[in-house]
Order: sequence, then structure tokens, then C-alpha cells
Amino acid sequence: MSSSKELIGFLSQAHPDLDVLTDATDRAGYETGARYGVGTAAAVVRPAAREQVQAVVAAAQRFGVRLVVQGANTGLVGASTPDAGGEQIVLSTARLKGAIAVDPLNQSVTVGAGVLLSELNTRLAQDGLFFPVDLGADPTIGGMIAANTGGARLLKYGDVRQNLLGVEAVLAEPAGELLDLNRALRKNNVGFDFKQLFVGTGGAFGVVTAATLRVYPLPAQTATALLVPTGVAELEALLLALNAELGDFLSSCEGISREAAQAVVRHLDDVEDPFAEMEGADYAMLVELSSTMPSRAGGLDLEALLMDFLERHYGTLIGNAVVGKPEALWRLRHSITESIRNEGKIIALDLSVPRSRFPAFRAEARALIAARYPWLRIYDFGHLGDGGVHLNMVWPLQDAPAYDEAVASEVRAELYRLTVERFDGSFSAEHGIGPYNERFYRDFTADAVLGHVGAMQSRLDPRRTLSRLWLGKGE
Ligand code: LAC
Ligand code: ZN
Repeated sequence: MSSSKELIGFLSQAHPDLDVLTDATDRAGYETGARYGVGTAAAVVRPAAREQVQAVVAAAQRFGVRLVVQGANTGLVGASTPDAGGEQIVLSTARLKGAIAVDPLNQSVTVGAGVLLSELNTRLAQDGLFFPVDLGADPTIGGMIAANTGGARLLKYGDVRQNLLGVEAVLAEPAGELLDLNRALRKNNVGFDFKQLFVGTGGAFGVVTAATLRVYPLPAQTATALLVPTGVAELEALLLALNAELGDFLSSCEGISREAAQAVVRHLDDVEDPFAEMEGADYAMLVELSSTMPSRAGGLDLEALLMDFLERHYGTLIGNAVVGKPEALWRLRHSITESIRNEGKIIALDLSVPRSRFPAFRAEARALIAARYPWLRIYDFGHLGDGGVHLNMVWPLQDAPAYDEAVASEVRAELYRLTVERFDGSFSAEHGIGPYNERFYRDFTADAVLGHVGAMQSRLDPRRTLSRLWLGKGE
């Protein structure tokens, strides 16, 4: 009998409360990732309490079976889906919810790892609060920690790491040990901040079972506009002007190319093309201002502030603008990834560069693709305000050479090199490492760092029970 079969037998007997799914139909929803990753698991186990996670991890360690920890499986780097071998066991955190404990005065919340971002925000709204790491998808909190997600409001609120006060995690070694670091302190300088081990490391160091997050008052007013800078030099000047004049209120500044917007228009029936009235424009920024102060006559009025900004810079920095359609603009922004999927095979990149180098980076990257891979269509967008660039490309299925995985990988490698080596950027800004970036992680991480991280991973998970991701030196 294979080790995974033995483990399933053991868990079903010793822990009858564990939801163990072995049937292919029941497993199916856990075997395909949002963008990448299709595999086969021996089973899916769905613990509902930390003790059950401890039991599963300890048993997996003992039986030598690899677990694939999975939240909502919305990740974009293949970290939460099993491989093709049929021997791995998916540990789904979907039932690890428990109560959502809000502390309005401390402005924090303690949640189970399996709570969905949408569930958290629905509960927080009752207290006039929200968790501001805002994404197009609806991941679990545990998954957001493992990937250290960024999102569209990082500019104002930071990423998960910056809003994570505490964590509770189960370790593989000592087998199933619970590490309780789940405190609600904003400051706590008592040596090594151990919880950071679980942030952005794809679950390689432990299974996050619960967390405490910093939360914020919901804005009482927002103002949104899509601005087209008059030129490339003006894009930088416009960013500076937004910071200097409206910085206190600036909660988002996203970049959208004409191609990306038009892909959404082709894909969704009820979205208007904001670029239709903006001839010549190829790149725009979605700007959002927000404040917890309600709009009041004679008081703070963000719409008026934004209009005033537009008027003052119209013709010099701003060539065109769309105002007064916040829902439509945000829907457009959050539908880009999903829309371009229909146009062929996606090569998606999650990069970042210092914001000051973005225009030069964009120009060079586009020129490189046009020169070497002219059949690729570029649909770039991203988090302009924080230097995040999703330079996504589509390999069309018609009027192009047949799709070739090796060439796609070469495109990715070339653009990563450009980003990291020429522009001091990151090849993985907010989606994590995962099997799809593992090779590049080793190429672009200092040898000394790989040595130390590998030693830590070997120490905390000597049998590699928790992840196929190896963060040390090449093996
Ligand atoms: C976004 C995801 C892809 O920014 O990170 O839409
Ligand atoms: Zn993004």
C-alpha cells in the first residue's frame, strides 16, 4: 500500500471528524488552480480545528506524505495545487474558520486561516471597519499570508505583512507543534519576529491556522477618476503632483494600458471603453482618493478636490480624464486578468520596479517583446503607485507560431532579467514564489541567503512534508 493510502486509512480511523475526500468528483474542485496547476491528489482533508491540523501534519510527517496546503486556491503561482503524481494530500483550510473576533478599539481582528476576505469584510463592516488589502479574487486569510498579497490599495495601507499583528501556525518539526504568536500588538520588540517566517513563503515553514490583523475605519467618501497623462515625462510629474497635493487622501493609483482596457470591453458586455474618447492615449491611471471624514457642505469634499486638481493640471499634465464612474472603473480594473485569458495562452508577470524607473522599464520591456517576439500581444497594467507591474502577454492561438512552452519560459526569463538586473526590480512582487517561480527564485536570490533559508527550512520541515517549494540552494 502506498504511504498516502496508509495515511488516509489512519486519519479516517483515528480522526473520524476529519472530512476526508477521496472520491474523484469530490476532489476535483481542489485539484485545479486559478491560473496554473492541474494535478491529482490522493485525498483532500478538511480539518475544522487547529488540533486537527496538528494531527494531520504529525501523521503526514510520520507516514512521509507531502501535504499541499490550500486556502481558496485563487493563487497565481501554482503553490496550492497538488502535482500530477496522485500521492499528495491537499490540506484544505476551508473549514478553519471559527469566530471572527473584532476588537474595534484596538482596530484589530482575530480570524481562522480559512476565513475568506469577503467574509471578513462583511463582518468588519458591522463595526464600520475593513481589511484594506484589496484584490480582484476572494482568497482565504491564510493564503493571503502565505503569498503576502499586495493589491490595489497597498499605496495607502501596505501589504499583508504590514498589517499582520499575530499568527498561529502548526509546524512539521517537532511534528504537529503549535506555535502561538497570535497577539494583537502593534509594537513588540522582543527579538526575532518569528511570524515573518510564514509571510510570503508559500507555506513552506508551517501551516497558518489563525491570524490577527490590523483593520481600518471604512472610508466615508471616495472620489475616483481615470487620468491620461499628456506624455511619458508628464506621467512622472503627475505622480509627484498627486503625492504633493493629494497625498493624504490618495488610496490607489493603478495603471491600465489601452490594450488591457479593450480586452475587458471585448470580454464583458456591459463595460464601456474609457479610452474610446481618448484618442492617442495608450496608458491611463485609475486614481482613488478616500477619507473617513464624511462629505459635508463647507467641509471636506473629495470629488471637489479631485475636480480642482484636474482643472489645474488639465492640458499640462493631464490630457484626458473620465470622472464619476467609480464602480465601472473598478470593475474594469479587476476584470483585466480574467478577460485576457480568452485571448490565447497567458504569460503573466508580477513585477515591481522603483516607481521612478517605471516609464523607462515599460518602454524597454515593450521594445524587447516587439523586437524578439512580435506575435505576442501585450496587455500591461499594474499598481503604478507602488511600482507594481503586471506586464501580461498573450500568445494568440491564431496568426502566430504554435504555442511553445520553452519559448514562453524564455520570454519570462528575459523579462525577469531585465527587471531584476537592469532595473533593480522584483520578479515576484505580490503573488509569491510557488512552483512556477521556484527556478527564478534561485537564479535571483543571493547564494548566502539561499544557504541560510535552506538551513531553516531543513530544520523546520526536514522531510519536506509541508511544501514542494524548496527555498534553499538547488538540489
Ligand atoms: C491584479 C492581480 C493579477 O493586480 O494581482 O489584478
Ligand atoms: Zn496585482
